Amino acid sequence: MTANPIGQPVPRVDGRLKVTGSADYAAEHHPDGMAHGVVVQSTIAAGWISGFDVAAAEAVPGVVRVILAGGIPDFPWEENRQIVDPAEGVIERPLAELRVLHQGQHIALVVAETLEAARHAASLVRVSYREERAVTSITEAVRQAEPVSGESSKEYPPNVERGDVEGEWARSAVTVSASYVMPRHNQNPMETHATIASWTASGLTLWDKTQWPQNVAETVGKALGLPKDQVHVICPFVGGAFGSSLRVWPHTYLAAIASKMLGRPVKIDLSRREYYGGTGCRPWTQLNMRLGADRDGRLRMIAQEAIAETSTYEDYTEAVVRPTRVLYKSEANGTYYKLAHRATNTPNAMRAPGETTGLFGLECALDELAYALRLDPVELRLRNVNDFDPFKKLPFSSTSHAECLRRGAEAFGWRRRNPQPADTREGRLLIGSGVASAIYPVNISPAEARATLMPNGEVQVLIAASDMGPGTYTSLSQVAAGTLNLPIERIRLHIGDSKLPHAPVHGGSMTMASCGHAVLAACQALLETLARDHGANTHDLARTAAGLSAPVSAEGRHDPGDLQKKYSPWAFGAVFAEVAVDPDTCETRVRRITGAYGNGHIINPRLARSQSIGGFIQGIGQALMERTEVDEQSGRIMNANLAEYLIPVLADTPALEVIFVKEDDPHLGPLQAKGIGEIALCGIGPAIANAVFHATGIRVRELPITPDKLFSGQELPAAAD
Ligand code: MOS
Repeated sequence: MTANPIGQPVPRVDGRLKVTGSADYAAEHHPDGMAHGVVVQSTIAAGWISGFDVAAAEAVPGVVRVILAGGIPDFPWEENRQIVDPAEGVIERPLAELRVLHQGQHIALVVAETLEAARHAASLVRVSYREERAVTSITEAVRQAEPVSGESSKEYPPNVERGDVEGEWARSAVTVSASYVMPRHNQNPMETHATIASWTASGLTLWDKTQWPQNVAETVGKALGLPKDQVHVICPFVGGAFGSSLRVWPHTYLAAIASKMLGRPVKIDLSRREYYGGTGCRPWTQLNMRLGADRDGRLRMIAQEAIAETSTYEDYTEAVVRPTRVLYKSEANGTYYKLAHRATNTPNAMRAPGETTGLFGLECALDELAYALRLDPVELRLRNVNDFDPFKKLPFSSTSHAECLRRGAEAFGWRRRNPQPADTREGRLLIGSGVASAIYPVNISPAEARATLMPNGEVQVLIAASDMGPGTYTSLSQVAAGTLNLPIERIRLHIGDSKLPHAPVHGGSMTMASCGHAVLAACQALLETLARDHGANTHDLARTAAGLSAPVSAEGRHDPGDLQKKYSPWAFGAVFAEVAVDPDTCETRVRRITGAYGNGHIINPRLARSQSIGGFIQGIGQALMERTEVDEQSGRIMNANLAEYLIPVLADTPALEVIFVKEDDPHLGPLQAKGIGEIALCGIGPAIANAVFHATGIRVRELPITPDKLFSGQELPAAAD
């Protein structure tokens, strides 16, 4: 008998490969004859290319070809719009035309024998433009913002109201009206974006950094006119992504096109500077909040208007206002969503895309309401906790929101907090604590897997899933081992390859609830097949395997069925942060964070904690450091590097505590698992912002909370002597 590994803190099965540098990432392949491509990017925000001067670039020794916008063969460019693509707009076709739509657009590719030659030659390409007037200023874009329209409005309607929003506003005894801003962010994974393309008689092979190999195969295939089974996408390891590798980006098509034109493999490995313009970002978003409550703190109305940046060529939309519809009870609720079109690259999903942004407005406004009511912010939330989705008119599949608030508060020591802002000191430091709730949907998509018992006693498990860091290799292996009653060492899990059985996107925190159930189903099917067709003793697969003359396979599939028709499934949590603010330098340090979550059954508590503290650390960055700076005049990104785009380092990372409350949710399937990766970032930013207010009495409503924002306007209480 083997102890069931499901629910155990199993160490990462790929940990050794990763720490020894043996895990191979997209850029780390070297097919014979491979050349290196380096992009040339536009330095205007809008207009037309009027000419190229490539003489100097072509003269660099080792340069193979300088491929220019307007100089590639015709391809069908059939679109394959998926959940990861904006529903409205025109998908970028690199080098297919001379039009420039944003700064950092790829407008030429220099291919050379070495990376150094390509990079040097790319710097020598001279470009002339006919520049056009374009809106690059966010201020101007916001002035011209329009309600979400077209195809996007089907999934993201511009106005959703329940009850009498204005009437309840008028009837409220205490109100809060305030605007908050989440700046633009870049995902900044450790691994940058890379594609290696290689054509053979049987089609195209792409080693591509992606969270969805099968979508890359299909999308590139349609664009370039190949059936999807002739495009093979390989990506066994992903060095972090945070959503940045959900879509197919222009450089991936470009690698394939260049390789086809030159008849040899081509690698494009974007630098950090290059991907800030060549991929996406979390959109700058303004949140206009209004809350109204009775004196006892019961909410009468909640209204949230989001105004988010997008590009001029695509309408990127996300779930920004959705948490505000379901998190709290109220008589009336209104959410409004506008897009501000700006001549920039199209934003895309970044960890908890929308939810983390919307919650910043909602959870800070609620904190402001708590002070207006002179009511404890935890108590205010507890008085308004919802157990029902009032829009879908369906119960939650499960909720531990209230329990998370209580358990988190207790573990954090919330009761000892002095309710008065700017009144807690430790030496010369101002100390504050803040709370926020967290919510993220439970997403489950159909998935398929195949399990094969080999005569040597190993079980091969195949599914086209990905692992961008949460530990898919380990957690899916646990599910297989647990189902088959085998030691985890016997499981050979293969993921990250488009030829494997169908997996949905590795995003939306859906991998365990989707692929996990498919692996479970495949392993159960294998046990049934062995018992039925081979009369095998399925309690001792080692003995069964020894008697096999050939491998035995079975397939399994999972479909969430009508889950979304019967329930509104969400994960909930509550997070608590303590900060210390230096009254002289206005520097804020986060001293500790406690997060409590109801995430259903936890498949691997070690990985779950890792995911959570990763979210906390990213939340510290969101609260205090991160901001992609777009120049208002030129639309150019000014800090496209990790020296000027700040993210937390270990010295910024304090004590982090994660609590998973016991929660069953059989509606989600036998694993009863909710996602973890994205809720881990939700609520951290506002909890820290609320703690800064509690420490200082200063309400900073635009992230990040840098010292200048605390310096300006208000005097901080003087340091105690
Ligand atoms: Mo996540 S933003 O769905 O990778």
